[in-house]
Parts: sequence; structure tokens; C-alpha cells
Amino acid sequence: MGTLGGFPNPPAMVRRRQSQRAPHATRIRAAAFGLLAAALCAAGCADFTRGPAADAAADAAPVDDSLFETYVYPILQSDCQSCHSQGQQAGATRFRLTGDAKADRAGVVALVYPDYPAGSLLLQRATGNGHSGGLIFTPDSAEYMTILNWIATLPPTQ
Ligand code: HEC
Repeated sequence: MGTLGGFPNPPAMVRRRQSQRAPHATRIRAAAFGLLAAALCAAGCADFTRGPAADAAADAAPVDDSLFETYVYPILQSDCQSCHSQGQQAGATRFRLTGDAKADRAGVVALVYPDYPAGSLLLQRATGNGHSGGLIFTPDSAEYMTILNWIATLPPTQ
């Protein structure tokens, strides 16, 4: 109060004009942002919505994958499920196992790249790359080769 006492009016007027202008400018920016978002959506949203629809179709079709159920799933259960299941330390990640191979298959397939099996997130993490769970098995292990060979049998990535 004391320091501004000599100039009470001009600073107050400037402040008021600025505060009156601000909402208008904000509205213009919001409108521009809305248009931008709409334009981006027109370009990108079609792709975004195609994913879940395709996933739903894939889920509905029965997948006969005995290789996964007989050889791959048991490895995942013994090496990964202790952390990668509901309530465990990796239970909130995209890789979650329930103990039901058929139910879990789609979630596992979403983490692999049939075009380049070794680049699959599943194998990258299992071999310790960027994985809080650490090194689970090495690329020369039987577990790695089993999973790699299974990934290579999957249809190419769309
Ligand atoms: C000791 C606990 C532990 C074990 C065992 C473990 N993980 Fe993990 N894993 C984690 C944790 C914690 C994360 C989340 C943090 C991170 O990404 O590192 C994770 C993340 C992942 C992710 C990334 C998931 C996402 O949503 O991006 C994949 C894939 C993965 N792990 C694969 C595996 C595989 C395959 C195995 C078994 C061969 C395995 N993990 C075993 C703890 C574990």
C-alpha cells in the first residue's frame, strides 16, 4: 500500500484493461485450438477407432494356437506371472496373465511383432532391455527360442 500510494489510478486501470482482455483472447485461442483439434481428428481419428474394432473381430474368431498353449504359455506362467498378474508389481502393465492361455493370448500377441520377432517388446523386456523385472532369460536360452519361433508363425503385422 505504502509504495504504490503515489500512483493509485494508472496501475489499477492498466490492470483492469488487461484482465478484461484476457478472457477474450483466451476464447479466441480456445476456438483456434478446437479447430486444430477437429482438423487433426479428421486426419487421425479414423485410424484410432479402427484398432479396437479390429481387435474385437479378432477376439470373436476362435484362434487355434496349440503352439502358444502348449509351449509358450507355460514359460510365461513360470517366468513372468509372479509379477505380471493382478495385484502384483507389474499387474498394471499391458502384460498381465490370468492363468487362462486362451483368454491371455490376444494380450500377448499385442506385444509381439511377427515381421521382426526379435524386436518384440515381449522378448526385449524378457531379456532385460528397459525392464524393471530385469533379465529373465538370455537370447540363447530355450525359452527365448521357443517364444521367438512361435512369434514367427503368426500372421504378419497389419
Ligand atoms: C520380478 C518381477 C518381474 C518379472 C519376473 C517379469 N517382469 Fe516384466 N515387468 C516388471 C515390471 C515391474 C514392469 C513395469 C515397469 C517396466 O516396464 O519395466 C514390467 C514390464 C514388462 C513389459 C512392458 C509392459 C508394458 O505395458 O509396456 C513387458 C512386455 C514385460 N515386462 C515382459 C516380461 C516377460 C515376458 C517376463 C517373463 C519372461 C517378465 N516380464 C517377467 C516386472 C517383472
